[in-house]
Amino acid sequence: MAKRVPLIAGNWKMNKTVKESVELVLALKQKLSDVKEREILVCPPYTSLYAVKENLKNSNIKVGAQNMYFEKSGAFTGEISPLMLKDIGCDYVIIGHSERRQYFGETDDSVNKKMKVAFENGITPIVCVGETLQQREKNEAFSVIEKQIKIGVAGLSGDQITKVVIAYEPVWAIGTGKTASPQQAEEIHAFIRKLYFEMYGKDSSEAIRILYGGSVKPDNISEIMKQPNIDGGLIGGAALKADDFIKLVSY
Ligand code: PGA
Repeated sequence: MAKRVPLIAGNWKMNKTVKESVELVLALKQKLSDVKEREILVCPPYTSLYAVKENLKNSNIKVGAQNMYFEKSGAFTGEISPLMLKDIGCDYVIIGHSERRQYFGETDDSVNKKMKVAFENGITPIVCVGETLQQREKNEAFSVIEKQIKIGVAGLSGDQITKVVIAYEPVWAIGTGKTASPQQAEEIHAFIRKLYFEMYGKDSSEAIRILYGGSVKPDNISEIMKQPNIDGGLIGGAALKADDFIKLVSY
């Protein structure tokens, strides 16, 4: 089976000033410099991206954005383009986080546009999928996720299909302290990999990385990472403290 390097990603959401961001990444840089066999990523707010990237030069920590618009430039007040993220040196961009879908009108179609434009600009998208509590209770989790993935990755080509990272984040587990049990998460991850197998075949399904997100903490990450189809974590709250994030990366 293809080797999938675990990706531990911090989604800082709308937290931290530039000064606080730099303090956090300097602590991480120092403590995580020897980590091997893990890919480490931080996703600060836009205002801190440049300073964070500058302070992480020559380090093993990559930088990503939490969103972007799908046009390159123009009259789109308040938006940030892929060219701007590329200019800063972003390696990744989170696309379609459930908070974007819930509060800012993100749809599967806009997710798909953003995915393509991210790749065109050499930025790897992390596409978020996941069901709400109501959908889970109505037994719709699988169909919701299938639709989000099928539309989200539609039209990607060649190695983009396997380079993309999928993050399964059950909406009911985000920021609530309610983690999906490792078995609940594994069930969905296995489903996503099977879906990928049906869509793109064996090699792609074995290469694609699928992260889990939703109340991942230092004390539950090892059980989560033991699941065969979980390849990393997208971490919100616990990524804001250096000590916690260091523990998460070194699970
Ligand atoms: P949380 O957030 O770890 O605070 O639950 C995860 C996310 O929304 O990416």
